[in-house]
Amino acid sequence: MKFSTMVLIAAATLGLGNIASAAETANGKKSSANAKTEAPKADVDTIVTTVCAACHNADGNSVITTNPRLAGQFPAYLSKQLNDFKSGARNNPIMAGMVATLTPDDMVKLGNYFGGQKPKNGNAKENGPGSMGEKIYKGGIATKGVAACASCHGPTGSGVPVQFPRIGGQHADYVTAQLKTFRSGERANDPAKMMQMIASRMSDQEIAAVSDYIQGLH
Ligand code: HEC
Ligand code: HEC
Repeated sequence: MKFSTMVLIAAATLGLGNIASAAETANGKKSSANAKTEAPKADVDTIVTTVCAACHNADGNSVITTNPRLAGQFPAYLSKQLNDFKSGARNNPIMAGMVATLTPDDMVKLGNYFGGQKPKNGNAKENGPGSMGEKIYKGGIATKGVAACASCHGPTGSGVPVQFPRIGGQHADYVTAQLKTFRSGERANDPAKMMQMIASRMSDQEIAAVSDYIQGLH
């Protein structure tokens, strides 16, 4: 039995008229009549308020610390990440669901929208001036061949467009999670494995210290 026939039978049995007409469209019968009834594409403001805001806030300064702050990030970096979630180059089940229906144009516009928001500053819990976190950020870990974070992300964490993202003020919980997924290779969308090489040489304690410092950096 052909798949389309099975769908029609199932739809008829359940009384699902819309599935039946979709199946007919697939067979090429009603396609011209149905073309006009397709839902219009949502604009970016609607996507932000109805989807993204729940986790990242409408102004891109997420309150939940496992959801990254997007405000002030380079637009091209944000749209790269959205593309990577969609292609699977960056593996995350939550975000994969969010980007599934976005077009490349939506992703550019969403990057521009969140990148244009004003970032809020955070505070370090323990790793202020003179701390282990500051030492790693500014000087790296010489004995392990870990380069200073500042050399690529800038002394105040403001990043260098467009390849080296802004990380100053990012939630420590999110930064820790990213360093650990770079370390395990679960996140592998960094050019030339730059972050994977660095994170693979860091201990949990070093990751926690530098993440706490970054949260207060601005
Ligand atoms: C259910 C919560 C949730 C929703 C809704 C959501 N996100 Fe996310 N987002 C996350 C989480 C969690 C991560 C971190 C993923 C990871 O750990 O790799 C993330 C990561 C991202 C990143 C990567 C940021 C970076 O610094 O690398 C971007 C960009 C992003 N989201 C944009 C969006 C946009 C645009 C929308 C709306 C279309 C959206 N998100 C909706 C939870 C959410
Ligand atoms: C050699 C340059 C380089 C150095 C040194 C470096 N990074 Fe990165 N980092 C990158 C690049 C490139 C990316 C972007 C990866 C991508 O495109 O997805 C990145 C991404 C990140 C991210 C993810 C940001 C986000 O919003 O998803 C975090 C967190 C991070 N780096 C932290 C650090 C920390 C902490 C250090 C120091 C221990 C460090 N980096 C040192 C190049 C570097």
